[in-house]
Amino acid sequence: MHRPCAMNRMRKHGTALLPWLGLMALLAVFVPSRVTGSYVGAGRCRPCHLQQAESWKTTKMANAFDLLKPGARTAEKKSVGLDPQKDYTHDSLCLSCHTTGYNQPGGFKTIESTPQLAGVQCEMCHGAGDAYLKPSLMSLQNKEFKRETVMAAGLVIPNTGTCLNCHNDKSPFAKKSGHFNFEQRKAQGTHQHLALKYRH
Ligand code: HEC
Ligand code: HEC
Ligand code: HEC
Ligand code: HEC
Repeated sequence: MHRPCAMNRMRKHGTALLPWLGLMALLAVFVPSRVTGSYVGAGRCRPCHLQQAESWKTTKMANAFDLLKPGARTAEKKSVGLDPQKDYTHDSLCLSCHTTGYNQPGGFKTIESTPQLAGVQCEMCHGAGDAYLKPSLMSLQNKEFKRETVMAAGLVIPNTGTCLNCHNDKSPFAKKSGHFNFEQRKAQGTHQHLALKYRH
């Protein structure tokens, strides 16, 4: 973001910045970026979380891909200056928030090649599954897994920040929907919530 002006400063101050550059290079090598495994799709979560999966399927988010089709929500699209007759189903600008793991390992590519990853699925709120769905992490052999251990492998217990990855100003509808209230929205349209059975 601020790179152009940092570059100017570097040119001006020349060698004084060299030690910092060295440190930054070291950090880039040794600090791992956020854990992101491969996406596996809601079909993998369903057998172990049937109630959440069934109730999620009926939510607006589960079906959010369909909004990109021509003729869907025409009045709403018009009201924010989108073309209601245009086909947005291959528009990379829209897909990042209306599909699961768009352009990431295991994630949505196109509706033709990865139809099973359309819409906002489990992993957009809980993190890519491949890395934490292991016998020693989240599994039927290890029902009492330690939450921190599974979270370190990429499981996300969603909070407001998770939702704001999509519910933000880059959405053409952000202005219309206004302030994001986590508890209210969680109740309104994520899935049915059940108490956990095991200690974590
Ligand atoms: C092989 C079975 C299995 C699969 C597959 C599975 N889970 Fe789980 N998951 C569990 C078990 C067991 C628990 C603990 C349940 C309990 O305590 O009641 C759990 C708990 C969770 C929790 C709550 C964790 C906490 O500490 O609050 C979340 C969130 C979750 N799973 C998400 C997912 C998602 C997303 C997927 C698919 C990517 C998935 N699970 C796939 C078995 C599974
Ligand atoms: C940054 C994420 C993001 C991007 C990019 C994005 N959307 Fe969305 N979209 C959302 C969210 C979040 C909502 C839900 C609005 C709400 O209820 O807060 C939404 C809602 C919608 C709706 C329903 C609006 C209504 O009021 O019924 C349509 C239609 C839609 N988006 C189409 C698109 C199209 C077409 C594009 C690409 C030009 C796009 N979106 C890009 C996140 C995004
Ligand atoms: C990957 C992007 C993405 C993430 C992450 C996301 N949402 Fe959404 N959300 C959407 C889109 C797109 C829609 C529009 C669906 C529609 O209007 O049909 C939407 C719609 C909703 C709606 C329905 C609004 C209505 O008009 O009924 C609720 C409720 C909601 N989101 C809550 C949440 C919560 C709570 C979180 C975080 C735990 C969250 N969302 C995370 C993309 C996302
Ligand atoms: C739009 C975001 C969103 C999506 C999509 C989503 N979840 Fe959740 N999930 C949540 C939130 C929010 C919580 C509650 C976190 C907390 O404890 O405050 C939760 C909690 C859970 C829990 C803990 C027990 C419970 O019922 O609260 C499990 C298990 C779970 N989700 C599984 C799934 C599975 C499986 C899917 C897909 C079929 C899924 N989730 C899709 C947001 C989401």
